[in-house]
Amino acid sequence: MNITYYGHSCFGVEINGKSLLFDPFITPNKLASKIDINTIKTDYILISHGHNDHIQDVEAIAKRTKAKVICNYEIYLWLSAKGVENILPMNIGGKTKLDFGNVKCVVAVHSSGLPDGSYGGNPMGFVVESSEGNFYYAGDTALTYDMKLIGDYRKIDFAFLPIGDTLTMGVDNAIIACDFIDCDTIVGMHYDTFSAIKIDKQEAISKFTRAGKKLTLMEIGSIIEKQNLN
Ligand code: NI
Ligand code: MN
Repeated sequence: MNITYYGHSCFGVEINGKSLLFDPFITPNKLASKIDINTIKTDYILISHGHNDHIQDVEAIAKRTKAKVICNYEIYLWLSAKGVENILPMNIGGKTKLDFGNVKCVVAVHSSGLPDGSYGGNPMGFVVESSEGNFYYAGDTALTYDMKLIGDYRKIDFAFLPIGDTLTMGVDNAIIACDFIDCDTIVGMHYDTFSAIKIDKQEAISKFTRAGKKLTLMEIGSIIEKQNLN
């Protein structure tokens, strides 16, 4: 399993020969200007919620790659109306078996309106289970006690957590979330893209270290093997 960072909350994850892409927001992201979305290969696109900074490039990438899009029912309706054809609508609590492993949709405490004002349903996170390991992609969320259910449900090898504060939980709450999900290996996301979510990266890493946890902040465009997160 390896992970590619495309900026903001967008990651590619390769599992068992298949490529997953989470929350593509690349073309409007100045920090990700060196990424060309037309070069991204993916078999699945997972969307945590309807906000522009998670959904902007879904239509273009989905139409080009024919990747299966996994999202909530309301986003499924919205993307279908735009001509995206290969979509698996899911909702919180649901799990589905796919050719690389399983995807389970879990609670995120946030909002989910679509860019044109359409109702976007509820935000979600994802737990991905596979023979190469398990991980949690939190999407945009506050710290919530519901995260304890994730820790009870599966042994998570690593988690993608938002750390930018203002719009989601910040570093201090993400450190508490580690205990709830029973996982100390974290890849940070949803920071630095906008002025409101700029963080001191070195301080964030130090806080995690002092708490006995490991925060990895990937360079945009870089790839890391799962075992090198530890
Ligand atoms: Ni959001
Ligand atoms: Mn966001």
